[in-house]
Amino acid sequence: MSLIDARTASAEIDWAAHRHNLTEIAALVDPAIVMAVVKADGYGHGLVAAAASARAAGVPWIGVAVAGEALTLRAAGDTGPLMCWLYGPEEDFTALVAAGVDLSISSMGELRRISAAAATLDITARVHLKIDSGLSRNGCPATDWAALCTAAAADPGLEVIGVWTHLAAAEHPDHPSVRAQLVAFERAHAVARSHGLTPIRHVANSAAALILPQARYEMVRVGIAGYGVDPDEDVAAQAGIELRPVMTLRASLIAVKTIPAGQGVSYGHTWAPEQDTTIALVPLGYADGLMRAAGNRSSVTVNGRQVPIVGRVCMDQCVVDLGPGSTDRVGDEAIVFGSGGRPVNEFAADCGTIGYEMVTRIGPRVQRIVRP
Ligand SMILES: Cc1ncc(COP(=O)(O)O)c(C=O)c1O
Repeated sequence: MSLIDARTASAEIDWAAHRHNLTEIAALVDPAIVMAVVKADGYGHGLVAAAASARAAGVPWIGVAVAGEALTLRAAGDTGPLMCWLYGPEEDFTALVAAGVDLSISSMGELRRISAAAATLDITARVHLKIDSGLSRNGCPATDWAALCTAAAADPGLEVIGVWTHLAAAEHPDHPSVRAQLVAFERAHAVARSHGLTPIRHVANSAAALILPQARYEMVRVGIAGYGVDPDEDVAAQAGIELRPVMTLRASLIAVKTIPAGQGVSYGHTWAPEQDTTIALVPLGYADGLMRAAGNRSSVTVNGRQVPIVGRVCMDQCVVDLGPGSTDRVGDEAIVFGSGGRPVNEFAADCGTIGYEMVTRIGPRVQRIVRP
């Protein structure tokens, strides 16, 4: 439920832009195919809608992190290839296997539990073996890999669809970890093949899909770039593709007033104007995803110009300095990021974070306005 009137503040979601981005990326990586990653509520854009948009763009695979996301998509009617990769210690795999969700396996424990779920249901579970090639996050250590392949190959309840891994620094192709991880991955793939497995390979996130052709293999897993956010500073430009922002965060100015020079603004009076000026109240605060760190550090776009966020950002609101003699009025729009404003990565950088964090942290009070 959204509690802020959409005319007051909203996150507008442009699904045509999402389809455009995914279509561009699919053409770039061809003949590799795309898995659109829609975890974390479609990176804050809406889980079910993001998956539907990806399918409409012709993307064959959908990827999510947790079981609830996969089952929500199945309940919403998504029947296509769908992969899930992060589990709790008590995860009940039965529902996932029954729903035909492809499951990642990083350990013998996961393999046994998924195999048991398949046996209970008397069906085959579709699985992707994950090697930890050097991210040191999820994935099977190289030392245990051969045993995992042996067990997977011998288990009639498991169909090994893929072998996969995740990169630590794909946005920096010269980073030494990239080469080391690809070498480790290819070694793991060779071991899998030596066990008679013939899996597809998938390694690349957005950055790798865009600028690391040798990591594309048969499939790439694209999250952030689909939402029109550059994975890093100029990755999209290097790839020669145009990404369109899918999310635009905006709010109306709900109060405009003049304050005298020296008048402190917001909690703690961390800012005061040097001359008489006009300030405006923007009804978005840190509870809505407008980072507290933005205070005295970032800006929003009002009537085509950048105006600074002054003083501390509060839970529900923040203040911007429109400047002396401003003619902006109540009801005019402040664009935090997106179409008509700055790229989300610029706003995020001001706040010491990244676009990924901004778009996934827009609070539930902010209504998503959907443009199909
Ligand atoms: C395993 C895995 N693959 C792919 C992605 C997509 O990454 P990106 O949003 O950078 O494209 C993620 C996102 O964090 C991930 O965790």
